[in-house]
Amino acid sequence: MHLRHLRIENLRLIEALDLELSPGWNVFTGANGAGKTSLLEAAFLLSHGRSFRGAGRDALSRLGSGGYTVYGELAKRSSSPVHVGIARVGGRTETRLNREPVPIGELMRHTAVLCFEPGSHELIAGPSEGRRRFLDWGVFHVEHSFLAEWRRYQRALRQRNALLRSTSFDPDSMAAWDRELSLAAEPLTLMRRAYFDALQPHLGATSHELLSELGEPRIQFQPGFDADRPLDELLAVQRDRDRARGHTGSGPHRADWSVVFEAAPRREHLSRGQEKLCAFACTMAQARLYADRAGEWPVIGIDDLAAEVDAEHQRRMLDVLATTGAQILVTGTEPLPALSGRDHALTMFHVEQGRVTRLL
Ligand SMILES: Nc1ncnc2c1ncn2[C@@H]1O[C@H](COP(=O)(O)OP(=O)(O)OP(=O)(O)O)[C@@H](O)[C@H]1O
Ligand SMILES: [Mg+2]
Repeated sequence: MHLRHLRIENLRLIEALDLELSPGWNVFTGANGAGKTSLLEAAFLLSHGRSFRGAGRDALSRLGSGGYTVYGELAKRSSSPVHVGIARVGGRTETRLNREPVPIGELMRHTAVLCFEPGSHELIAGPSEGRRRFLDWGVFHVEHSFLAEWRRYQRALRQRNALLRSTSFDPDSMAAWDRELSLAAEPLTLMRRAYFDALQPHLGATSHELLSELGEPRIQFQPGFDADRPLDELLAVQRDRDRARGHTGSGPHRADWSVVFEAAPRREHLSRGQEKLCAFACTMAQARLYADRAGEWPVIGIDDLAAEVDAEHQRRMLDVLATTGAQILVTGTEPLPALSGRDHALTMFHVEQGRVTRLL
């Protein structure tokens, strides 16, 4: 899929912008603070409903404005173009598909945008929440029942946590929610495991292209609880501890994963640049798996590709991107030397104070 049109209003410093994009490589250059990352943030919002910068929802709205709007016209291989929109109005988020209001899950199902940015090393070295998000975005796009199962689990978790904190503790209700949580955990964990099984060969290939010096990669998945026994048994054993803490200590909401290599058997063995390249390998593996399943590539945003990556590894990153049929949105303060002299055409844009000019 590719974004033909991206229209942005009142997002960060961008007041109003109407961009026509090429289906191939779109390169945005401009000074610090010009608005390059904000452009990728806008595209990412359409697919994730939040920013990759982890800011609160209202930090995105341009200062002094009432809220932002992002609209995209998405060309698809399998259907006629789809119009996708997200807006923040009066402290609420509204999402639209073909101009009709839809739940956010509907918007996300139609729009696939992956971004790699200077904070992406957090996928490897940061908190587990980011890794669960990565995982669940992937599972959501390949397993249609995932969202419903995930919501069922979240509901049971909320109920159980409320009960843990309540002063009138009722063991029977607790046992019932333990059971419900355990039942809801099963399909989630199966889907997550199956996703990693499918991702592993793609990760093997992208790591080989980017980080062959580290040897074979392996994904280690931790489901968030000891999967050898039913979760409700474990919850019953941990009930007193959970009550003291006021929340549920085990379950798929605590799931995590890591990538280890022959030459780096623990994530702490990776240098900062290697963490970034490993995160990029994971992102590109996810893009390839998506393309395999959906029959079309997600849009790929690359913010400041050169940051902390040496020239040889930049070249490898661009080689990996060049093997895709994806629309690429890439930013940098300077044009990347490694980008010139390649086969694919580049559409160049200059970004300045939230305004974008197409060059050539
Ligand atoms: N809510 C907001 N309202 C108005 N301006 C904002 C808001 N949030 C951020 N900004 C401004 O928008 C600009 C952010 O732009 P952005 O991060 O997209 O820049 P960039 O071109 O990616 O820069 P860099 O090269 O430093 O990464 C900054 O000048 C910042 O001060
Ligand atoms: Mg930036």
